Amino acid sequence: MPGKFYITTPIYYVNARPHIGHVYTTTLADIVARYHRLQGDDVFFLTGTDEHGKKVADSAREQGVSPQDFVDEIAGEFQQTFTRMALTHNDFIRTTEPRHEKRVQAYVQQLTDSGDVYLGEYEGWYDESQEEYVTETNAKANDYQSLVSGRPLVRVKEKNYFFRLSKYQEVVRQHIEDHPNFIQPDARRNEVLGRIRDGLNDVAISRSTEPWGVSMPGDEDHSVYVWIDALFNYVTAPASRDRNELWPADVHLIGKEILWFHAVIWPAVLLALGRPLYHQLYAHSFWISEGQKMSKTLGNFVDLEKLNGYIGDFGLDALRYYLATQGPMGAADADFAHAKFVEVYNSDLANTFGNCASRVANMIGRYFGGQLPPEDRKIRFGDGLVCLESVCVAASEAALQHRWPRMDLDGAADEALGVIRQIDHYIEQTQPFKMAKDSARMPEVGTILYRCAEALRIASVLLWPIIPHKVEDLWGRIGCARYTETLADRGKGRWDDWIRWGQLEPGTVVNKGDALFPRYLV
Ligand code: MSP
Repeated sequence: MPGKFYITTPIYYVNARPHIGHVYTTTLADIVARYHRLQGDDVFFLTGTDEHGKKVADSAREQGVSPQDFVDEIAGEFQQTFTRMALTHNDFIRTTEPRHEKRVQAYVQQLTDSGDVYLGEYEGWYDESQEEYVTETNAKANDYQSLVSGRPLVRVKEKNYFFRLSKYQEVVRQHIEDHPNFIQPDARRNEVLGRIRDGLNDVAISRSTEPWGVSMPGDEDHSVYVWIDALFNYVTAPASRDRNELWPADVHLIGKEILWFHAVIWPAVLLALGRPLYHQLYAHSFWISEGQKMSKTLGNFVDLEKLNGYIGDFGLDALRYYLATQGPMGAADADFAHAKFVEVYNSDLANTFGNCASRVANMIGRYFGGQLPPEDRKIRFGDGLVCLESVCVAASEAALQHRWPRMDLDGAADEALGVIRQIDHYIEQTQPFKMAKDSARMPEVGTILYRCAEALRIASVLLWPIIPHKVEDLWGRIGCARYTETLADRGKGRWDDWIRWGQLEPGTVVNKGDALFPRYLV
């Protein structure tokens, strides 16, 4: 049943230029959002930038510009990047916007009024690069260095406003235990449960040392801690559009390094505010580059320039396909490697999808003057031969019931590719190019080609969320431009209808066109 679907990405720090990490999570969210639109859901997809805090203010200072000018520039770069990549977010929130700031203050006020926030003092370790306090145990375990940047931790002593995280320890733990899908993948869920069992301390949610932030209500000397400020974006964005009904979010998509804030602190804050908890947090792993961790020192980031190079050489959809099918969706990191990219592109997109599309269109051109022949449903080609209609039903069901709901994008793509491989197999077995030599057998040739084209159409619908532009191109060639129009006009599709057998109209002009995915020669 179609319903609402609200998906978010992290909001990105503006002290770094966009790179593959940001593009990855936002592209994944785009793919999942498109999948839900295809199903007919009313989708809201949110991304944005995290613009307060010391890290950002320091970067602005280093460049000798005001924090506001600095964040405007980089936030603009993120927006342009996402637009150029045709990502379909419905909103882009910036934490320096008044619509966000004033609501953050109201939420913090509510937490203060309820006694969940109190004034106290913190003395201990601080990770400046992550703007995070670190417990003695964790600090010691990593030799008093930042887990993420490796920089030495610093010792601080400051008056702060604290959030009573300890009060929510049991409720949060119980919720995670009772809802296996609340935190995914399982490795991440177990990691969180393990850490909660070690016990939760109250957390400081203000800073007196960094004025570049939202002021604590009633205390101008403190700013709301950047992480608390940032988490609120998930509720301030819908509220600012009068769309409170969007909450709770269906999926928060994040990278594994920011698991703790999302899996423990955010639910506790929501409970303290009396708001329902999000449905699922999905924390993917990391891209590395040509076998090595990406780092500033190595200077090996897959940055925008590199990504644009891939888009130029292979096309935007090829990049989306690689990110979706080879990416670190599970517990392990994944390698962004040129040779692998070429291999996946050639085997899945050029030699399988693209090749099958031109093969079928070629034969329709050669034997039927480019007009789709009808299917004679009575024609059967002997035992042991696959029935393409059943293949399509099985693949659609598997994708819909098992792959997409588990965020198994690689599996979802593979269901569609499986259909295409079966089309190739069907052609090998029935050999329409041989039959076509005998004019009496043309109804059989026509039936084969209709079935191939129809199965290709269904496979293309299954692939639309991942490679939408090439699929729309194909739809234009096989008389299905109405799908593209429906998606554009209504913002949603009719998956249940479009994956049903028998939609292609016999007589439709089939345009062969250029190769959808030209083979890449190494
Ligand atoms: N501003 C915080 C998030 C606040 S959300 C309320 C932040 N920003 S960030 O700019 O550092 O972005 C982190 C996110 O970028 C990760 O969680 C992940 O989604 C993405 N990635 C950054 N580097 C990545 C890789 N190397 N690989 C995959 N994704 C990674 O943290």
